[in-house]
Amino acid sequence: MTKSLFNHYKKFLPITPETPEVTLGEGFTPLVKSINLSTKYKCDMYFKLEGCNPSSSFKDRGMFMAVSKAIEKNKNKIICASTGNTSASAAAYGAKYNLDTIVIIPSGKIALGKLLQAMAYGAKIISIKGNFDQALNAVRDISDSLNLEIVNSINPFRLEGQMTGAFEIVDELKSSPDFQFMPVGNAGNISSYFKGYNIYKSENKILDIPRLMGVQAEYSAPMVDNKIIKSPKTIASAIRIGNPASSELAKEAILKTNGQFLKVSDKEILDAQSILAKEEGIFCEPASAASLAGFLKYKDTNNDYINKKIVFILTGNGLKDPEVAQKNLKSEIINTSSKIEDISNAIISGKSSNFFKRFF
Ligand code: F0G
Repeated sequence: MTKSLFNHYKKFLPITPETPEVTLGEGFTPLVKSINLSTKYKCDMYFKLEGCNPSSSFKDRGMFMAVSKAIEKNKNKIICASTGNTSASAAAYGAKYNLDTIVIIPSGKIALGKLLQAMAYGAKIISIKGNFDQALNAVRDISDSLNLEIVNSINPFRLEGQMTGAFEIVDELKSSPDFQFMPVGNAGNISSYFKGYNIYKSENKILDIPRLMGVQAEYSAPMVDNKIIKSPKTIASAIRIGNPASSELAKEAILKTNGQFLKVSDKEILDAQSILAKEEGIFCEPASAASLAGFLKYKDTNNDYINKKIVFILTGNGLKDPEVAQKNLKSEIINTSSKIEDISNAIISGKSSNFFKRFF
């Protein structure tokens, strides 16, 4: 049977004899060592493939814990606001554990794959005319009176569960990375990693905590700009957030690790998404690619990353957002008849893909 985060990291999680085990097989995601980009940039790069979680994003790490505690408290309804991934994850756990799941999403602003997931898992989907920040305010306002358990990252158990990402990285590398680049939206995940690394430090499993580098999109960068953004904009819909709920915790994470908040343009995000796919064989969603985009920007004005160990948290699978990918991942499709001759001519004469660059 697959091991569960619940059992494996029990010692570090808020689990009591009354806490029921909840699992969809989350966690233990690959930490893949880069070849091409590491060589190019003279450092050791590792990609944490969080898109390999059951609902294809890192949210499952926190959701198993939040749902477990909700069941412990005898709640039978969970609610979240979401840019898409939290709703997909909540709906998946809700389905398995027979909880009604209500998701509030900003109308027309979540990626198609994520919306389909929430539908497939059977959530009640409420689409509002407004952005994520407004959806989260609504969730805060109505959850008590309707006796709904909030499973956004303002639920402390979500952040506890997400610490397991840091544990896994250290358990695998047998040390702490020097840098960790990751996208920042509502600022929960970076806060969790900080907490997780701190726990491992206090257990003497690591000497230092990596420099945490939080990457935001240019026009959705409240942490970089140090102000609330009323109408955040970016192609990376997952991190289109103007008023992060965990901003204070995230600020502390950056300050105490000598890290930085960085912002990158949509073009830099899309370029990074394409580079990861074409150079490393990893297809992640745009928000996740922001982590690499942040590094590519950082390396232009710094050289302290050379020969260092750098982890990138690739938070979600690229297939979740087919619309953005289709528009931006340029690849020519060669149409031919089914005749062998036409097909082989097409193979020989094609010039668009990496394949041709390498082999012909
Ligand atoms: N990457 C992806 C793919 C996300 O879905 C999110 C957040 C983040 C990064 C940022 O993480 O909020 O902890 O700073 N998505 C949330 C959602 C907001 O509703 O799915 P964060």
